Amino acid sequence: MIARAIEWIDSKIRILDQNKLPGEQIFADLDNYEDVILAIREMRIRGAPTIGVAAAYGIALGASGIETTNKDEFLARLNQVMRAFAASRPTAVNLFQAINRMKKAARGDGVAEIKNSLVNEAKRIHKDEMNATELLSRLGAGLVKDGFRLLTHCNAGPLATAGYGTALGVIKAAKEQGKEVSVFATETRPLLQGARLTAWELMQEGIPVTLITDSMAGYFMQQKKIDCVIVGADRIAANGDVANKIGTYTLAVLAKENEIPFYVAAPTSTIDLSLSSGDEIPIEERNPEEVTHIQGVPITPEGTRAANPAFDVTPHSYITAIITEKGIIREPYTEGLNTGK
Ligand code: MRU
Repeated sequence: MIARAIEWIDSKIRILDQNKLPGEQIFADLDNYEDVILAIREMRIRGAPTIGVAAAYGIALGASGIETTNKDEFLARLNQVMRAFAASRPTAVNLFQAINRMKKAARGDGVAEIKNSLVNEAKRIHKDEMNATELLSRLGAGLVKDGFRLLTHCNAGPLATAGYGTALGVIKAAKEQGKEVSVFATETRPLLQGARLTAWELMQEGIPVTLITDSMAGYFMQQKKIDCVIVGADRIAANGDVANKIGTYTLAVLAKENEIPFYVAAPTSTIDLSLSSGDEIPIEERNPEEVTHIQGVPITPEGTRAANPAFDVTPHSYITAIITEKGIIREPYTEGLNTGK
């Protein structure tokens, strides 16, 4: 079994440092909320559902550190903690859904009761993600046929979901159903989540994986070596447009051109019905050094200008189906996503 991405242990948060994988399995115990925010920003902990779970536990941790018995003062300081989490990463909506749930849970007669209620809600958020990702994976596995060669991008396994996985969960569940499956994993520049994390997770699951550079995907599709593409999501707008790791849009266009089904697997906590289309999804811009360097080593002439949008938006017309724990949704997405079917 793969080590847990995040755990609440003895009123602290234990994370598996994803930046050190696969070379080292280092766990870090975080005992203040500022360190949790830093870990999210630095992507020591990452992936849309896992970011939501980390923020929920982080808020519970932040609340426990507020030393006052005055309820109004406590709530004002708790609000600052929540605002700090909201500013950590902008694209994955799971973060904001988790913050909203924690806001609603901040109820009780006194400060001690509210602190307790926040810990319980964070644990519930974690459990809900575990249940949802397992359920959607089992549903999605029905789309995977025996012998399928699937292509996936970035990392959408247990590390990214604090649960069973989404895209990788579907693949794992298909294997558990007795199907023979194999995976092409794109390395996912700039931060190499595919090469470092997806390859690591699939190898531990005993699922054959072939690593390719991002630019090789079209070649393998054209060669008829890919039966379907499956990815996770960071935010899904009401019309079915999907924000996911940069490069996902390119894969979707290539899949359509080559008549290959393109599936998105995500829990409903990734759906943002307040946005009518993907145009409204905020796209995180990260430090260009992530492009000019690989694992801290410079690869360009000094002073090279680089751009680093961390996500892109795939229009719904490129998506064959969206797999959620509530069902498999197809066009018209506006209808299916709103009714949860
Ligand atoms: O920047 P990251 O590594 O947090 O981005 C992660 C992704 O884009 C994943 O594909 C997405 O969060 C789905 S995780 C189940």
